Amino acid sequence: MRRVVCPGSFDPVTNGHLDIISRAAHLYDEVVVAVVRNPSKTALFTAAERAELIREATKSLSNVRVDRFEGLIVDFCRSNDISAIVKGLRAVTDFDYEMQMAQMNYNQAGVETLFMTTNPLYAFLSSSLVKEFARFGGDVSGLVPGAVLDRLTTRLNET
Ligand code: PNS
Repeated sequence: MRRVVCPGSFDPVTNGHLDIISRAAHLYDEVVVAVVRNPSKTALFTAAERAELIREATKSLSNVRVDRFEGLIVDFCRSNDISAIVKGLRAVTDFDYEMQMAQMNYNQAGVETLFMTTNPLYAFLSSSLVKEFARFGGDVSGLVPGAVLDRLTTRLNET
């Protein structure tokens, strides 16, 4: 089975992430969306909540599975029999760090990284900007799936 992992923080998942996930799902037998749990980084949603929101948003894609991980992505790949990572590249600003991680992961574990160019519709989009806009009353309804919009509004009202 040709399996690829799409790793990230997904705090929260955006339409830009979903574009990459669904395009990867057309190319691979299975896409595993791996939500990182990073105890040293403060997130708006817990890893379990982030994973649940992705599950909800990808429920029509039968070959997408959502999981969580902590530690190195290459260890997650090893234990899930995955040989490649897929990442979306929005702009040159993404490139340096993504390239560095890709080379490190290949050097250390032979795990390949495939870069997919982001749909220009979402080239500006990031989870951080979505949170910032939503926090100050901006309308992010076209940028995130419906379930995320609801949870985002509720969570930001709580904080
Ligand atoms: O959505 P993000 O925060 O840009 O995703 C970054 C992520 C989670 C894909 C990256 O930080 C990662 O792979 N973290 C896991 C830890 C790891 O393997 N670090 C070494 C990378 S060379």
